[in-house]
Amino acid sequence: MTTINTPFEEIVRSRRSMRRYDQTISYDKSIVKKSLELAMLSPNSSNMQLWEFYRVTSDEAKKNIAHFCLDQNTAKTASELVVFVARPDHVKRSIQHNLDLVNDENSFEKKSHRERRRTYYSKTMPMFYSNDFMFIFSLLKKLFVTLIGMKKPMVREVTAINKKVTIHKSVALAAQTFMLAVKSYGYDTCPLEGFDSKRIKKYLGLPKAAEINMVITVGKGTEEGIWYPQKRYDYDMVVKEV
Ligand SMILES: Cc1cc2nc3c(=O)[nH]c(=O)nc-3n(C[C@H](O)[C@H](O)[C@H](O)COP(=O)(O)O)c2cc1C
Repeated sequence: MTTINTPFEEIVRSRRSMRRYDQTISYDKSIVKKSLELAMLSPNSSNMQLWEFYRVTSDEAKKNIAHFCLDQNTAKTASELVVFVARPDHVKRSIQHNLDLVNDENSFEKKSHRERRRTYYSKTMPMFYSNDFMFIFSLLKKLFVTLIGMKKPMVREVTAINKKVTIHKSVALAAQTFMLAVKSYGYDTCPLEGFDSKRIKKYLGLPKAAEINMVITVGKGTEEGIWYPQKRYDYDMVVKEV
């Protein structure tokens, strides 16, 4: 197995959004697979793994997806693109997967942990991810947590919209792990939200319920692909200590 020897700080500091790739180099496809394997180790809400990753590798598919990414240069010159997809419609499968893990006799969970997790995946998760009808169920859940929350700390984000945010948070964490992993192997990326999600979903054969989180372009970066120096707010402006 290939290991990454680049120090973490160097990877983070050298990652930049790449707007033009070198199309003359031969490209090592295996780094995308390895980076996706690392991305899948990212923390994700309740280990539901409501994500999918579509590798766009053929010339024809790349041309089409780049066009749906509004013909941005980063997409047109990429060696490969990866579409990060949120799958709220895979909830049942994820719950079952987690229950199977909990019920696996070879799992080394403590008995008390196991019972708690069984209840969590058989009761709490179905409730949180339950389908909504005209936001009525969301309203009821919101009312319920507001009442409980008057007496003790309570998770407040229980509506249908919150559910989407929860899933997208986890997919975005995987996207970040992916970009840092690609950088660690000596290649570059650019995350995109400038795309036509409807066209991409249709092209990939995704159902209506699936949502595109990000498209990430991958390739060997160029100097002109970095558009401006990396500038961020001063530390004290955004970091508060309490
Ligand atoms: C969710 C998200 C969407 C983005 N969408 C685009 C995009 O459509 N096109 C683009 O050129 N850059 C896009 N970017 C890249 C940002 O512009 C870039 O990260 C930011 O300017 C900071 O630059 P840096 O990544 O080089 O540090 C996106 C970044 C994120 C996180």
